[in-house]
Amino acid sequence: MKIFSGIRPTGDIHLGNYLGAIKQWIELQEKEDCLFCVVDWHAITTPYDEKTLQDKIFDLSCSYLAAGLDPKKCSLFIQSQVKEHSELAWLLGTIIPLGELKRMTQFKDKSQKHSEYINAGLLNYPILMAADILLYKTEAVPIGKDQVQHLELTRNVAEKFNKKYGKTFIIPKPMLPKQGAVIMSLTDPNKKMSKSDDGKGCIGLFENPKEIEKKIMSATTDSDNEIRYDLEKKSGISNLLTIYSLFSNQTIKQIEKEFKGKGYGDFKKSLSQLLIKKLEPLRIKKQDLMKNPDLVYSILDKGAKEARKKAEQTMIEIRNKMGLK
Ligand code: TYM
Repeated sequence: MKIFSGIRPTGDIHLGNYLGAIKQWIELQEKEDCLFCVVDWHAITTPYDEKTLQDKIFDLSCSYLAAGLDPKKCSLFIQSQVKEHSELAWLLGTIIPLGELKRMTQFKDKSQKHSEYINAGLLNYPILMAADILLYKTEAVPIGKDQVQHLELTRNVAEKFNKKYGKTFIIPKPMLPKQGAVIMSLTDPNKKMSKSDDGKGCIGLFENPKEIEKKIMSATTDSDNEIRYDLEKKSGISNLLTIYSLFSNQTIKQIEKEFKGKGYGDFKKSLSQLLIKKLEPLRIKKQDLMKNPDLVYSILDKGAKEARKKAEQTMIEIRNKMGLK
């Protein structure tokens, strides 16, 4: 099965990015045909610093490798190194109705948040995302829940294209983890964990142990001190139980049993210890990779070559079908 996914290099990746997306990628690379991308063109649709963009791209590439992506098992590359992404985005833009773009939740949220910077790229963002996916005739896209709407748009575009120009694209499926499709903020468990969070609500995948402990210990919970999963009434503790379950490979029921009669303090202490232990090797691996840019860039170059080869082939077919040369 052909798999594609990506993350924007806009800041340190967090537990949500890991549990919603990367953890699935690591499993998929074992048996599927996978491409994973640093989507730098998507990162410039909201305010950014051009002086540090390359550092962020490098940092995210190291994070992919440190988290467990293996360049022998998948292709890793930077979106802007495969120019066909932008060509296909332009072509797809001619068949996407404007109304569909304006309806996107992310466009509405981001244009509200950055009201001084509502650029056409922000509106066209999902077209580029559709191009990323369709360029490789992707069959499944492992993502967190917040990206499902963009994937629906991608599926619509693929169907429209196939209808207008003849069967070309496979209609890609979203692939969500059973647990962890949306990890919530630690300070406001009704909001998703996000890179642009205030800091306390979001745990970086490579954060130092002291910070991890501090953030978990001060995570918002309810007042009844009972460790029980109830998404509606106890969203804070339920979010922490999800994180615990995914890092310990225990079911929520098993964890509830283990902590029966114990309070939130004990549970939070165990959770922070678990996270510190599980994330420590990733942090060390990332520090090593950051010191070895030649290795990282050679992996990205190889990935771009592999991706380009596939992209060039799809573009020949698409230009042909659309009456272009
Ligand atoms: P981005 O960079 O915002 O997020 C990367 C991935 O992390 C997931 N995610 C979460 N999962 C669970 N809980 C959370 N709190 C959480 N926050 C983020 C996202 O769902 C995503 O899978 N538009 C995309 C990037 C993109 C892309 C693509 C993805 C561009 N082209 C093609 C897939 C295929 C984005 O902004 O992701």
